[in-house]
Amino acid sequence: MTVSGNRNIAIVGVGSLMSKSLAIWLASLGWNIALVSRSEKNLSSIANEVHQAQQGKGGKVVYRAADAGEPTQLKATLDWCVQKLGGKLDVLSYNAARVSLSTITDITPDELEQDLKISAVGTLIAGQWFADGNANVDRIAEGEWPVFLVTGGILDKQPEEALASLSSAKAASQTVSRLFAKALPEKANILVGMPLISGRVVSRGDEGYSEEFDADRIVAAVFKPFFEDREKRPEGKEGWIVERVL
Ligand SMILES: NC(=O)c1ccc[n+]([C@@H]2O[C@H](COP(=O)([O-])OP(=O)(O)OC[C@H]3O[C@@H](n4cnc5c(N)ncnc54)[C@H](OP(=O)(O)O)[C@@H]3O)[C@@H](O)[C@H]2O)c1
Repeated sequence: MTVSGNRNIAIVGVGSLMSKSLAIWLASLGWNIALVSRSEKNLSSIANEVHQAQQGKGGKVVYRAADAGEPTQLKATLDWCVQKLGGKLDVLSYNAARVSLSTITDITPDELEQDLKISAVGTLIAGQWFADGNANVDRIAEGEWPVFLVTGGILDKQPEEALASLSSAKAASQTVSRLFAKALPEKANILVGMPLISGRVVSRGDEGYSEEFDADRIVAAVFKPFFEDREKRPEGKEGWIVERVL
């Protein structure tokens, strides 16, 4: 059972099917939710859906357009989220990525640099910002820990030829996440969770859709367990699972 109400989450890169499904689930529990991605129009429409999922629970839903690949903008936006939600974050979910076809013989330096900025530098800045006094550590005495969640896949270990730039960037970003998973519990009282999806996530009804990689199923299988496990942890990080793969 995940705790209801009075908890704060910021989701960076919220347009994807999975992160939207995550936001809708948390809205149904009455969490306060901040949504961040670059398109104001998409954010506004997602915020509407998230509001509807609240079913009168009354949590806050705020959104702001920002480029997570720009460190100054990302930090300022996360500061804004804390201010608008009215408290430090219980969970920070970093999900921003540029999913675009590319081959290793054709990638331009600019493309690779852009992917590294969004995936690896963005994860780095988000994790450092969270560890710098922005995580809600007030409930640790009751066994409830803040979590830094970084969405990923298996491209770091099994790079795909048609996703050359993204595979390279995810290898870097997932290393950043694994290093945070070692450092943050001691340094900042934050646990790190990596929901990893090994297949393609496609909208129901679209070509390539599969039940196995349905967004709601992914949230249930590899996101929700992190929310359940971050509660009732008198022993802190002992027994905490960092990576969950579907
Ligand atoms: N989809 C899959 O099949 C799949 C499979 C395995 C793993 N994953 C992982 O899941 C994560 C999300 O991927 P996805 O496929 O779901 O991608 P997606 O549908 O393209 O969603 C990524 C989101 O990030 C936002 N975004 C992109 N660049 C951004 C930036 N610079 N600043 C802020 N927001 C930005 C995009 O919105 P804007 O364009 O409006 O900014 C979009 O909402 C990635 O870590 C990916 O590796 C996905």
